[in-house]
Amino acid sequence: MNNIVLCGFMGCGKSTVGQILAQMTGRAFVDTDQLIESNENMTISQIFEKIGEKGFRDAEHTACKEAANMQNAVISTGGGALTFERNVAVFNEDKIVFLDVPFDEICRRIGDDGNRPLFKDKSKAKELFDTRIALYRTAAHYVIDGMGNKNEIANRILTILKEG
Ligand code: S3P
Repeated sequence: MNNIVLCGFMGCGKSTVGQILAQMTGRAFVDTDQLIESNENMTISQIFEKIGEKGFRDAEHTACKEAANMQNAVISTGGGALTFERNVAVFNEDKIVFLDVPFDEICRRIGDDGNRPLFKDKSKAKELFDTRIALYRTAAHYVIDGMGNKNEIANRILTILKEG
């Protein structure tokens, strides 16, 4: 309740900016991917291998419900989480912020990091990106430019939240 929830595509900076924001505000920081890994006792890649994307999405929904029970936390969600209505619904008492970063910049940041099961093929990732942008915008109360210095981005979020 009254949490700040960050959403956006893989590599948009949700976890880094979320941790800075948590430090700035004295709020607890929660990362739904970390919750999933600790609940399932496996890495995200292992989860995809063992129980597939459908199993991962169910574990993700459980983690979103757990995170939404926090009070005044900063919550970083996985890139797919808020593209599902059932996850958006659990954060209905919170403020959802979309970190908007262009696909080229996402690719530059992710590079050859092989830890993301849904970013193994760049053209498939681009298709996913194109379908998801509208969904993030629908889920979010605020859209923030996710380019530039991470402290500045955290400050942008604080400012927009204060303005209401
Ligand atoms: C996913 C994004 C990942 C992770 C999983 C699925 C997605 O999180 O939840 O690999 O569907 O976009 P990050 O956005 O933190 O990379």
